[in-house]
Amino acid sequence: MTPVLVDTYGRVATDLRVSLTDRCNLRCTYCMPPEGLDWLPKPELLTDEEIVRLVTLAVERLGVTEVRFTGGEPLLRRGLPGIVERTAALTPRPQISLTTNGIGLDRLAAPLAAAGLDRVNVSLDTLDPETFVRLAHRDRLSDVLKGLEAADAAGLRPVKVNAVLMRGVNEHEAAGLLEFCAARGYELRFIEQMPLDAQHGWKRDDMVTADEILALLGAAHELTPDDPKARGSAPAELFLVDGGPVRVGVIGSVTRPFCGACDRVRLTADGQIRNCLFATEESDLRGAMRAGASDDELAERWRRAVHRKKPGHGIDDPSFLQPARPMSAIGG
Ligand code: GTP
Ligand code: 5AD
Ligand code: SF4
Repeated sequence: MTPVLVDTYGRVATDLRVSLTDRCNLRCTYCMPPEGLDWLPKPELLTDEEIVRLVTLAVERLGVTEVRFTGGEPLLRRGLPGIVERTAALTPRPQISLTTNGIGLDRLAAPLAAAGLDRVNVSLDTLDPETFVRLAHRDRLSDVLKGLEAADAAGLRPVKVNAVLMRGVNEHEAAGLLEFCAARGYELRFIEQMPLDAQHGWKRDDMVTADEILALLGAAHELTPDDPKARGSAPAELFLVDGGPVRVGVIGSVTRPFCGACDRVRLTADGQIRNCLFATEESDLRGAMRAGASDDELAERWRRAVHRKKPGHGIDDPSFLQPARPMSAIGG
């Protein structure tokens, strides 16, 4: 087998997304129920040492060039600055990013930047405190906004903002969110809601589609497609706002899938390799590692897991099955 992580369709996984915890301090309705979930027991979570071992293997042996830490909420992991620092010390040094809800970034942005974090993506679905509570079941909008400011001040740029629009909840805020982000130099991306909620309540008809998002924005601004070369394998399709330079992204995972260009592989907080967000099988690196597997054996297991990657998520197939694990446990 080749040294890189390649699948049978020739896609090469160079972007590793590492979930550091399945826990979260918010309860976004498209993700988990208000009462939370049965969190993974601590002994099942990878230790900081184990995470660094696997990230090192991916970067130094398997061709991974970008490492993104996610969750659940990755800022809840105490060892995060140390994990980032050790990732930044690898050769070749990977790009290091974080996907977070922003709570705690006001305190952590500067130390994380000092540890080697390059950039952050922050979720922000609404600018209205009451809608925030309705959506996330916690009154924390001001903490998120403070976190965003701190990320920008710490130079974690480009600061990207993720917004999921929900019918009758926050769809009327599309243009307002865009103006808020444009004024601060944040790159906003709207995301189609995917069937990854723990409650399995996703309905296709409830989803605000990429077309609808573009229509909502188009009512207030002129959008022109950005140079597609700027997109690469990124999920976001980019548009110039009123001629630029401000851009807005639309991540149409469901209606405009980008699986053909996917360069991602995921490591869950409990040490399972998933070759796709929607994978129905996982490969257990934690068990192998704890049973004494060598780096060679782990690398081989990892290559095999990626090799089996399916061509696409298949959400439109009649036989589609939502993954048993929710997004918070898989890693966003
Ligand atoms: P950058 O553009 O490199 O910053 O990364 P990103 O947009 O992939 O990162 P982020 O973690 O902010 O994810 C944004 C949205 O894209 C989330 O809703 C993710 O779940 C979704 N997403 C990320 N990776 C995948 C993927 O492999 N497949 C699909 N369908 N969606 C993904
Ligand atoms: N569909 C689309 N995006 C989701 N996110 C969480 N759950 C879903 C879902 N079901 C988003 C979060 C965060 C990113 C990691 O994924 O808002 O920005
Ligand atoms: Fe937490 Fe992210 Fe899920 Fe919201 S989407 S509850 S911020 S893990």
